[in-house]
Amino acid sequence: MTRVGVAVPAAGSGRRMGGVRKPFLELLDEPVLLHALRPFLAERRVAHVVVALSAPDAVDPPDWLADLDERVRIVEGGETRWASVRRALEAIPGDVDVIAVHDAARPLVTPETVSACIDVAEAGAGAVAGCPAVDTMKTVDASGDVVATPDRTRLWHAHTPQVFPARVLREAYASSMEAATDDAALVEGHGIRIRMVDDGGLNLKVTRPDDAAVAESILRHRRAS
Ligand code: CTP
Ligand code: MG
Repeated sequence: MTRVGVAVPAAGSGRRMGGVRKPFLELLDEPVLLHALRPFLAERRVAHVVVALSAPDAVDPPDWLADLDERVRIVEGGETRWASVRRALEAIPGDVDVIAVHDAARPLVTPETVSACIDVAEAGAGAVAGCPAVDTMKTVDASGDVVATPDRTRLWHAHTPQVFPARVLREAYASSMEAATDDAALVEGHGIRIRMVDDGGLNLKVTRPDDAAVAESILRHRRAS
């Protein structure tokens, strides 16, 4: 069976949420980070999960996280998401074939999306969860003036998880210069095919204060159905 490692960047400061540590924000009485981890822990191919936390949280993690699952370990994150992912990758043992990166701030990811992305990476390609653009998109210049209307049928939103053969992702991070906010952007150009995996569009990232209410209402709706 394919062995999967999961890197979970959770060391951000939640500036756009007004300084809230988003991974520990509760939605339906459970932390965002727990919602985000569950579908990975439910996947039999997942062998290791490394969560990158801010320095104070890494030194003194909450009990629920420390006791959650023997596959979970905690490391200290870095100054940027890229640095946090890099540290998590270093802590994932060398015995995995595939590595998934998933933002702690995406609590709505489903087991189906996780498994579909792992299937793609197991077959040797990269997988990026996301959804086709539904709005018309505009390219603007630095002052906000519209310069073009790209063909919407070719545009997707990129979410996480993003899942890759382990060697390719490790090489991409080892040779990258801290720029991308997206893991696939580092892997593009490393010679593998990267596929978008449609996550249905409800896999939102809790970014601004209103997102917490939206995410909670989606979770409530799922629980009821
Ligand atoms: N992240 C991280 N280390 C950082 C910055 C971000 O591990 N130094 C993580 C966040 O915890 C989050 C994910 O990367 O799970 C996506 O980042 P984002 O949504 O931007 O979260 P924050 O950086 O916390 O929010 P903001 O940008 O508003 O400060
Ligand atoms: Mg950020």
